[in-house]
Amino acid sequence: MKVCVVLGTRPEIIKMSPVIRELERRKIEYFVIHTGQHYSYNMDRVFFEDLELPEPDYKLDIGEKYHTHGSQTGEMIKGIEGILMKEKPDVVLVEGDTNSVLSGGLTAVKLHIPVGHVEAGLRSFDRRMPEEINRIVVDHISEYLFAPTEVAKENLLNEGIPEDKIYVTGNTIVDAVYQNLEIAKRKSKILDNFSLRRGEYIVITFHRAENVDDPERLKKLVGMLNMLEYPAIFPMHPHTKNRIEENGLKINNPNLIVTEPIGYLDFLLLLANAKLVLTDSGGIQEESNILHIPCLTLRDNTERPETVEVGSNIVVGVDPKNVINLANEIIVDKEKFNEMSSAPVVYGDGKSAKKMVSVLLGEKDGY
Ligand code: UD1
Ligand code: UDP
Repeated sequence: MKVCVVLGTRPEIIKMSPVIRELERRKIEYFVIHTGQHYSYNMDRVFFEDLELPEPDYKLDIGEKYHTHGSQTGEMIKGIEGILMKEKPDVVLVEGDTNSVLSGGLTAVKLHIPVGHVEAGLRSFDRRMPEEINRIVVDHISEYLFAPTEVAKENLLNEGIPEDKIYVTGNTIVDAVYQNLEIAKRKSKILDNFSLRRGEYIVITFHRAENVDDPERLKKLVGMLNMLEYPAIFPMHPHTKNRIEENGLKINNPNLIVTEPIGYLDFLLLLANAKLVLTDSGGIQEESNILHIPCLTLRDNTERPETVEVGSNIVVGVDPKNVINLANEIIVDKEKFNEMSSAPVVYGDGKSAKKMVSVLLGEKDGY
């Protein structure tokens, strides 16, 4: 069995790391194609260093040169095709819903190579999101659908995907958190570096196209940042930074630390010790559930409804007053805080990658 892993962005590197570790542990032949969709040191290399991942075998140079969906996707397909034709893997694994995932999946299926989709079946039911299109397409061309939860499996069944292709494995983000939290506790000095006190600050991230490419929503989010009255830290995604500058918006709040994006070990420790997180990130909605940190999602919908159902996450939107009022309520109301932070983990037991590799090897007892 020869496995190809295609990845290209920050969350894919993090969520594929447990799969790569498992392939290594079981001495399975594999190679990694990095599309280069993310390319800045702090969006890319830092994760290979923090997670002690081997260098990708192939690196395309897409993100820095191509910025539109069509050109990014087309160039990635061209690059991936030549490599797959040469390497002839038995399966191509992709994770999530980015343009790199779409390109990896499409290229493989057209060469008749089976696709394994890690994190299959998520749906926001909002087709304006590029991620929703990517995940629907990739789910429908995959042979192995690794659904993190029963909810995700149900979404796939509702779209007519045969049950025998679907494996409920949990999400590899749990594996990544469990594998790295202790290391982060030993190594990271992030709290001291920013003079933050455990349990006494908010972590904020947003980068999603629907928020930052829409000037009205972006203005509201920046307005919210400027209204915060509680200590907070905002590691700013480069996409967000560019849009804030282009729109001439100013972040100005002495309670808020604005930083560059930070490495995984630092981010895990930062999140694990926060009072609350405000985010539009998919991965961070999951991690807040795993780490028992209340989460307010800065969107109008989520493809992670399980977190809302168990009570660790509330979809709040982007209206500054709504966000600030709800954040303040969670900070002062102990009962509400305890309720949110004691919600059960919904994404599995941290053995998702092991289960996926067992499925690929046809081991019935491993899954
Ligand atoms: C992409 C994914 C999104 C995912 C996010 C993870 C798509 C359509 N979107 O969004 O689903 O949640 O990654 O973070 O695939 N940039 C840099 N350095 C980098 C990367 C990006 O400066 O290393 C800047 C560039 O100006 C680039 C812009 O950010 O044009 C957007 O990057 P892109 O990869 O297109 O989209 P993301 O917003 O990162
Ligand atoms: N993350 C990080 N540093 C940061 C912000 C996020 O390491 O400064 C990690 C976070 O822990 C999570 C992943 O990046 O695992 C989420 O990526 P992102 O929000 O970019 O993408 P999404 O999950 O929304 O696709």
